[in-house]
Amino acid sequence: AHMNENKEFVLVGGGNAAGYVAHAFVENGIADGRLCIVSKEKVAPYERPALSKAYLFPLDKSPARLPGFHTCVGSGWERQTPDWYKEKGIEVLYDTSVSGLDISLGTLSTKAGGTIKYSNLIIATGSTATRLPEAVGGSLPGVHYLREVEDADSLVSSWQEASKVVVIGGGYIGMEVSAASVSWKLDTTVVFPEKYVMPRLFTPAIAHHYEEFYKSRGVKFEKGTSVKKLVAGTSGRVARVELTNGKVIDADTVIVGVGAKPNVIPFLQAGLKSLEGGIQVDGQFRTSAPGIFAIGDVAAFPLKIYGRTARVEHVDHARKSALHFANVLTHKTTDPYDYLPFFYSRVFEYPGSERKLWWQFYGDNVGDTVEIGDFNPKYAAFWLVSGRIKGVFLESGSPEEFSLLPKIARNQPHIDHLKLRNASSVEGALEV
Ligand code: FDA
Ligand code: NAD
Repeated sequence: AHMNENKEFVLVGGGNAAGYVAHAFVENGIADGRLCIVSKEKVAPYERPALSKAYLFPLDKSPARLPGFHTCVGSGWERQTPDWYKEKGIEVLYDTSVSGLDISLGTLSTKAGGTIKYSNLIIATGSTATRLPEAVGGSLPGVHYLREVEDADSLVSSWQEASKVVVIGGGYIGMEVSAASVSWKLDTTVVFPEKYVMPRLFTPAIAHHYEEFYKSRGVKFEKGTSVKKLVAGTSGRVARVELTNGKVIDADTVIVGVGAKPNVIPFLQAGLKSLEGGIQVDGQFRTSAPGIFAIGDVAAFPLKIYGRTARVEHVDHARKSALHFANVLTHKTTDPYDYLPFFYSRVFEYPGSERKLWWQFYGDNVGDTVEIGDFNPKYAAFWLVSGRIKGVFLESGSPEEFSLLPKIARNQPHIDHLKLRNASSVEGALEV
């Protein structure tokens, strides 16, 4: 095993947050020769959301491929290809997995037996897709998970041969991948245990509109049931899905989207404090050990606006935590991170699609809801606590309407419940 020379800033993880840190370090003139990125992936940081969206367009609809969506194109900035990192003097160790941390020595160990010495460590290792156990058939050929570009390539190659697809999970991956699957004209069934899709965010009424739209595009749902077993055919490849409700669905391709887990094991084993399943940080992304920071999916941070700790597995937070961390480091701010939760999705957006669905949500989905619109095409939902708006959801808004959402969620205006309920249109409700 070899010992690398001491690096001033070592960032573990080559994902969304890493790409935005690299951007900010270059902007601040602290990248050249001072930043080293250690990534398990073989490619430079990219905008991960593309993997379940433009990457999965039918092959005749110009799907996205690298290097088209390296960070930071998602924010309209320069596309950071491997050459960009070289030009900026940022060392990237690709295909290198960190397996250990020794805080007292200030060293990382890699799976391949190497050692990396750091002065400052930034942990941005993101999450891993939760797998179904081997005993349930979770590792059979034809069973896919979606987290990295290699997973998306493997899914696309399965779809080229597929005819019957089952998607397990009714969350983000389930919704985006099933929409893509029917766009490929594949027989597609989504299975999940809850009563309706996206239960952590959607109301029953919101979910109803999406389910009806999906059904009109050919997606079938098996709700309120779970997977008993994925069963292989004679070839060894998955051939059917047995559900706990007794039904059996034939499938040659299965995509599992049953949640994600933060990649924190080596760091918690080294003694960093844990919260919410992630790494505890303060409002400046400092962990419990000096000189060690955590951002993105793994960071459990003070969500100042609501006075609680949160871990957020969404790209807006990955980007903003990276930028805020860089601003703190370069003394551009001493303010604590003041994040406003923002989630979104887009489906059926391939070129030539009759209608695309696009929703955004800002704030906190707590309290009672007032919902307005007929989904033809617009729909809005407002979450209210003691007469104040806490969260706001909008489908198919105009850019101007979408831009009102963060203002509403941030200001939490007092609202006349009746006036809102009686608003004659989504546009009118957003004005209230
Ligand atoms: P991210 O997962 O991006 O990067 C982590 C990096 O660390 C990876 O390169 C990984 O290989 C590496 N790594 C892990 N362990 C390591 C180790 N031990 N050693 C070295 N490297 C290691 N969000 C959203 O708001 N809107 C959206 O539309 C979508 N869409 C979407 C689609 C799909 C398919 C996925 C999987 C996820 C999304 N998300 C999303 C979520 C969003 O992509 C996610 O929150 C961010 O990518 C998180 O950024 P991070 O940098 O924290 O982790
Ligand atoms: P998720 O938590 O959104 O959804 C998981 C779904 O699987 C839920 O419906 C859950 O009840 C269901 N489920 C759980 N166990 C199950 C089981 N045994 N059988 C059947 N269903 C089961 O997670 P996801 O969709 O897998 O997404 C993974 C990660 O990627 C998350 O961090 C998510 O935030 C991120 N992501 C985000 C977006 C976006 O923001 N647009 C898009 C894709 C992925």
